[in-house]
Amino acid sequence: MKFYQFPFPGSGFLAVCTAWFFLHPARLAAQTLIPLETGHMAMVLEVEQNKDLDIIYFGKKLKNAVEYGLIPRQYKQPEDYTRSLNAAYTPAGSRSLAEPAITVTHADGNNSLDLKYVSHHVEKISGDVSLLTVLLKDPVYDFEVSLYYKSYYRDDVVEQWTTIRHHEKGSVTLHKFASANLYLKAESFWLNQYHGDWAKEMRPEESRLTHGIKTLDTKLGTRANLFQPSVFMVSFDKPATEDEGSVMYGGLEWSGNFRIDLELDPLDNLRIMAGINNYASPYQLQPGEAFTTPAFWYTFSDQGKGDASRRLQRWARDYKILDGNGNRLTLLNNWESTYFDFNEARLAGILQDTKKLGVDLFLLDDGWFANKYPRNSDHAGLGDWQENRQKLPNGIAALVNEAQSAGVKFGIWVEPEMVNPKSELYEKHPDWVVKQPNREEYYFRNQLVLDLSNPKVQDFVFNIIDSLFIKNPGLAYIKWDCNAVIYNAYSAHLKNQSAFYIEYVRGLTKVLERVRGKYPSVPMMLCSGGGGRVDYAALQFFTEFWPSDNTDPLERIFIQWEYSYFYPAITSSNHVTDWGRQPLKFRTDVAMMGKLGFDIQVSKLNGPDLSFCQQAIKNYDSLKQIIWHGDQYRLSDPLNHAVASVIYVDETKSSAVMFNYLVNYRYDEKSRVPIRLKGLDAVKKYRITETNLYPGTNSTLEENGIYTGDFLMQIGFNPVVNANRTSVVLKIEEVR
Ligand code: DGJ
Repeated sequence: MKFYQFPFPGSGFLAVCTAWFFLHPARLAAQTLIPLETGHMAMVLEVEQNKDLDIIYFGKKLKNAVEYGLIPRQYKQPEDYTRSLNAAYTPAGSRSLAEPAITVTHADGNNSLDLKYVSHHVEKISGDVSLLTVLLKDPVYDFEVSLYYKSYYRDDVVEQWTTIRHHEKGSVTLHKFASANLYLKAESFWLNQYHGDWAKEMRPEESRLTHGIKTLDTKLGTRANLFQPSVFMVSFDKPATEDEGSVMYGGLEWSGNFRIDLELDPLDNLRIMAGINNYASPYQLQPGEAFTTPAFWYTFSDQGKGDASRRLQRWARDYKILDGNGNRLTLLNNWESTYFDFNEARLAGILQDTKKLGVDLFLLDDGWFANKYPRNSDHAGLGDWQENRQKLPNGIAALVNEAQSAGVKFGIWVEPEMVNPKSELYEKHPDWVVKQPNREEYYFRNQLVLDLSNPKVQDFVFNIIDSLFIKNPGLAYIKWDCNAVIYNAYSAHLKNQSAFYIEYVRGLTKVLERVRGKYPSVPMMLCSGGGGRVDYAALQFFTEFWPSDNTDPLERIFIQWEYSYFYPAITSSNHVTDWGRQPLKFRTDVAMMGKLGFDIQVSKLNGPDLSFCQQAIKNYDSLKQIIWHGDQYRLSDPLNHAVASVIYVDETKSSAVMFNYLVNYRYDEKSRVPIRLKGLDAVKKYRITETNLYPGTNSTLEENGIYTGDFLMQIGFNPVVNANRTSVVLKIEEVR
């Protein structure tokens, strides 16, 4: 690997590598540039003569990095009177009057901040990953901000965050403290954002951004994504399609309140400020203390939304998700088949059914705990994590043993951050509960949130998990649920209530770090009353997440489709349940598009249904590596077509699996035209066969059809989806 040295004023000589991470200061007249480049994208910072640090470019990488310096003079936009709209990290209270990235009150009560470039350096973390750090300082106050840009060359992803410090004579109040500040130029900007609620997660809305500020945020404290997740896309010039157009994706790595401001400024450029939500959270920063913001990740592609999502998915598997390149367990869950109504005998039967079905693990859901106030409904017991003696007289240990004898693994549900007012925990430790001392309690699903800012509560939550493992070393899986938002935010532990929302998430992170320190690899599902909590901070501790309680497969096609732009299939826990009107085959096919599980009464399945499921699990075993680790291409969009279609292709382009569903049930809707496949090798030949056929049915497709990749990608293939064949799964294998 070659290293070059470039002269750079103020920082002496800087060594950078051009092979993987091309970041070098180039000089044009009166310009000092810091181009941050990955394989295909670039963000270029410029140090102005007055030492302001600005962003002069964000988009597709240029072939000649020196030409970035020529970009600004090609724009003849209105004058920026403040020359600060494109600041790399916009301070407030000095000359900038645009939406700030940071707002402070200094120790002496002054509200102004200015930030000037001091130095930067690049650290090479691996062949693929580099870290650029830029130091900014206020010329008047002893106050500094370090900007961090961690870039992943191959996948075109950047994680950006800041560390804020000062050495003033008292604490400084941080009123706003964004992780990242970006500046985009285009003719127009199209925001694709998401909203939802329980069972309606990830509904997309795309609109042209108009002048002023559009804010995406949450103030729910925990289960924070319930109405709005932090993930979004911005298309440049026109809405990007699956395969065309320039688009950036972004999201915050923070499982709490976030705020993303998108400001179309007077010059018609887009300013983006993303970070923790400053709502009710002015932060008292002590002299010498470092306040580090969570990372905001972003990616860019000029090849449409599909390309951006495949890069992001690969990055997530390689760098973010716990065991992102590993394996997962198929399972049978008992939530919808029993709810709270079970006992040892009933579970023993379900354990036998787990084996009969052919999945790896049985997952015992809610209802197994609490004695004084038994957990027989969601009104009581949460917080009392002792086995319910009536339902489980021999404890979880007996069930784990029983599972072992049945030849399956055993997993368990917990909701450790929560408490029912009707519980011994609430009676013993009312001060551990988030609630206002003098106000009426207000419940979400009859429960309240524990105060994770309190180290004693952190210990309690850690111990719930730890003692389960200590008592039951055979435990193989945890489903970690979180069903309430935070009302009446108040911590009896904290002196400064403004720290609460941030300290809650920090406390949660500490607990998860402890759990992972001791149990590094046990698979854990991140669940939040459906899809109320998923982000790349949490997924560092979890192997998968629960996208929605809505498992109606027709709904799931849409929900999983939207999640898939941001999260790879290996993280998506999809269960076959009795929701919806679709046949068992349709439900199973949809669940197979991620991490397959079941939540049905196996004992009630008729013969053909049972053998279909058993065979589908075997089929899944032979396809799952492609689904979990392959590249996903969206072929036909359920929002605009009668047939939805998705393909997963393995790395060598020799095997693929294609899922096709009828999503419009009006008269005679069907796959009228061939669906063009993607991601194959044009010169390879492929055999297409239908799999997951329901017992007694035959495929209507030509047997052993062989086609070139060229044909399949240019002309396409008709899976023959219609009212009689509403769900069709195709195996595509290279013929040598
Ligand atoms: C909400 C989850 O989303 C469900 O899957 C189930 O675990 C229930 N909680 C249990 O209370």
